[in-house]
Amino acid sequence: MGRERWPSRLLFIFAAVGSAAGLGNLWRFPYLAYEYGGGAFLIPYFLALLILGLPLLVLEFSVGQYFQRSAVGSWRKLKEWGGIFGWWALGAAFLILSYYAVVMAWSLRYFFASFTMAWSGGAESYFYQNVLELTPNIGVLGGIHWGLLACLTAVWALIYFSTFKGVKSVAQVVKVTMPLPIILILVLLVRALTLDGALTGILFYVKPVFSALLDPEIWIAAASQIFFTLSISMGIMIAYASYVKKNQDIAKDALWTAILNSLISIVAGFVVFGTLGFLAMQKSMAVADVVASGPGLAFVVFPEALSMMPVAWLFAALFFLVLLSLGIDSAFSILEGVLAAFKDRVQMSTAKLALIGSFVGLLCGIIYVTRAGLYFLDLIDHFLLNYGMIIFGIGQCLLVGWTSAGREVKDHLAAQSKWFPVKTWWWIIRLVAPVILVIILISFFIKELGAPYGGYPGWAIAIGWLFLFGTLVFGLIMNWWYGRGEEVAD
Ligand code: PFF
Repeated sequence: MGRERWPSRLLFIFAAVGSAAGLGNLWRFPYLAYEYGGGAFLIPYFLALLILGLPLLVLEFSVGQYFQRSAVGSWRKLKEWGGIFGWWALGAAFLILSYYAVVMAWSLRYFFASFTMAWSGGAESYFYQNVLELTPNIGVLGGIHWGLLACLTAVWALIYFSTFKGVKSVAQVVKVTMPLPIILILVLLVRALTLDGALTGILFYVKPVFSALLDPEIWIAAASQIFFTLSISMGIMIAYASYVKKNQDIAKDALWTAILNSLISIVAGFVVFGTLGFLAMQKSMAVADVVASGPGLAFVVFPEALSMMPVAWLFAALFFLVLLSLGIDSAFSILEGVLAAFKDRVQMSTAKLALIGSFVGLLCGIIYVTRAGLYFLDLIDHFLLNYGMIIFGIGQCLLVGWTSAGREVKDHLAAQSKWFPVKTWWWIIRLVAPVILVIILISFFIKELGAPYGGYPGWAIAIGWLFLFGTLVFGLIMNWWYGRGEEVAD
């Protein structure tokens, strides 16, 4: 039958950019930029992109393209125990997806609420009391919030229908979900830049505070943002590249993916800060005092600003449509990464696998649509992202950099992408990137020992670690299972 293929090179790039550009670009990036010295953040951001992000993206693309297998099949080719890392990463990615879909469910809820501007009475109380019905602390679960569960089910239906025909359906869907948010962001950009006070917000965003560079945290934040935003070390980009023909200059595709993704982040920053400048002016406050992080930015501060504009409902609906359309292709890329591993090993129709995957994903998300969901989301996100991505990043650098099969990947890359500085890349993968990542990992850990994350009680922190190491156990079991039978990849 032969391996599934992208209908065209352009659609592969669309899918890769679609995976990379997601919720991380629209609220995570602007907030980090604000928190870490405005324009000064761009310095560690681009350095991290150059030293970690791009090299690892090229690595994942060439590994997938060379072995023509998912992350698991590919990492097993490098070393048989590599499959443990592969499954571990996919398990963690799947758990990330289970709450990523919940943030999309909130966006869907807000999209509908836009038409009546339901939060105009108070954006903060609307989010925490009406939408989340948040309990006072993580120890009070408060039961399932059925309205949010309904939205989550709708999001999973969208994810299912994007993946049920494998690469073919993914390629169809990204034709819309990649360009649509970009166009809408440009519309929002024009709106933001023409608001009163926009300039103050933008100056806040771009004016570098160089002393911020002295804080080691800015470097760590930039590095983890690069991992998150490029969707690297979760096995996804390997799976996507495994559907690419072997003779394509894939380093060039990696370059395009990284450039487009960063452009989207930077433009999104202008939209967010222009709008925040407007809000600050309306409220006669300083921009510094209206900014909030994480969900607060997209679901409280931004909606509040939107409610003060003329034709508020229209721009609100547009904004949440951007969040949804940015998020959907990142979400289904994770599912596709996981499905690809199963497709290489079991003879089952893609539709059936996608259905099972979507159903399990929905079930895993239920904890986040309880009334204490936000706390769990924050907690699990911390452990899976900060530790998971870095550990898998180190794993794949070493697996490629120090094995003979890894050398074949390097030679393959050198043959396909003659312009690419393969020698420099090789030393980054073998030495520079792993050393930097180990330093980051240790510094996360030291910080962890200092104070419990987010002030959560001991049992909650234990759950966080359990998620991280539970997926390792999953990796061990699945790798054993994978090795017991024949691959159906070729
Ligand atoms: N890159 C996506 C974003 O920036 O929102 C999120 C993401 C997708 C992270 C896939 C990790 C992942 F495996």
